[in-house]
Amino acid sequence: MTLLVTGCAGFIGSAYCRYVLKHHPEDAIIGLDALTYSGNLSTIADLQESSRFSFVQARIEDEAAVSDVVKSGSVSAIVNFAAETHNDRSILEDADFLTTNVIGVSKLLKVVRGCGVQKMVQVSTDEVYGAAPHGKFTEDSPLLPNTPYSASKAAGDLQCRAHFKTFGTPVIITRGGNSYGPFQYPEKLISFFAVRLLQDKKVPLYGDGSQVREWIHVMDHAAGIDCALRSGTPGEIYNIGTENERKNSEITRVLLDLLSKPESLIKQIEDPRKGAHDVRYSMDSSKLRSLGWKPQVDFDRGLRETIAWYDEHESWWKPICDRPEYQQFVARFYGPGLGEDL
Ligand code: DAU
Repeated sequence: MTLLVTGCAGFIGSAYCRYVLKHHPEDAIIGLDALTYSGNLSTIADLQESSRFSFVQARIEDEAAVSDVVKSGSVSAIVNFAAETHNDRSILEDADFLTTNVIGVSKLLKVVRGCGVQKMVQVSTDEVYGAAPHGKFTEDSPLLPNTPYSASKAAGDLQCRAHFKTFGTPVIITRGGNSYGPFQYPEKLISFFAVRLLQDKKVPLYGDGSQVREWIHVMDHAAGIDCALRSGTPGEIYNIGTENERKNSEITRVLLDLLSKPESLIKQIEDPRKGAHDVRYSMDSSKLRSLGWKPQVDFDRGLRETIAWYDEHESWWKPICDRPEYQQFVARFYGPGLGEDL
């Protein structure tokens, strides 16, 4: 079949394309991406070498452009990774989050309906459930998002639910945990800290670093999404979790160890997320596991390989870190003084 992968030039979207090209030799991919700040052609250079991959630059909100691609490419399924994804950026300004994560999703759902696409997967996040101080979220847990980012993802999920209920649009939602691996834009805990430590710069640990995240290797996340696409039921939601829960402070210390850097490079800062900083995420993913998926990548190995990848791929991340937009975000979010100090 031909898949339309939206957000293909981002972190998880590009990993998903790699996964499909490797595991489904009969499939072709049309990759679509708006190439905003976090989508980079350098991320998909290897994909562009495949005769089974083609690229289109467009926004998912551009219903006419996406419709044209779907019709001319005889697309039978859409997997949507296109999203604004960084909580810290959503605290500064949420407009792009609402445009892409809500309006964009609703436009895609219209394309699915209008063009008779057989299935769509909306790639969402465990953050829509809010914080889990205790226990685990199931797919039936209430949506209690705490940041503008996670609220926009929850709104996108509700668009999917509404289109399924109202029109029977065949959409599946996946909700993944914190992903790590190669090609992650250097603004998230692991990718940001890795590139800063590699440059002997300090890393800003929010508060006491006691928050817990459920970490998943990006290829395990990609495999989970693919399992939901091929074996899941329209209208259903699937959590994609690993039970690999780690405190931010632990992750930070492991990164220092892996890179042989001193503790003095940790800078504990006042928590910029304040009340919106979810203390813990944790999911029950038995529903997806019952379809045959389970994570394969051991965290210690995955993290070691990921850090080695960043060490070896300065040619990928340095041009990003040198962009004025990137430097302005770091200075604006962490404060000019702190930005320089960092
Ligand atoms: O849980 C899935 C979500 O994981 C995805 O939906 C989001 O797109 C993705 O960004 C991620 O959200 P988080 O906010 O959990 O990820 P982030 O890497 O930004 O932060 C992870 C933890 O590390 C969080 O408790 C905040 C902390 N942190 C983060 C950064 C960037 C720091 O202490 N310092 C930092 O500089």
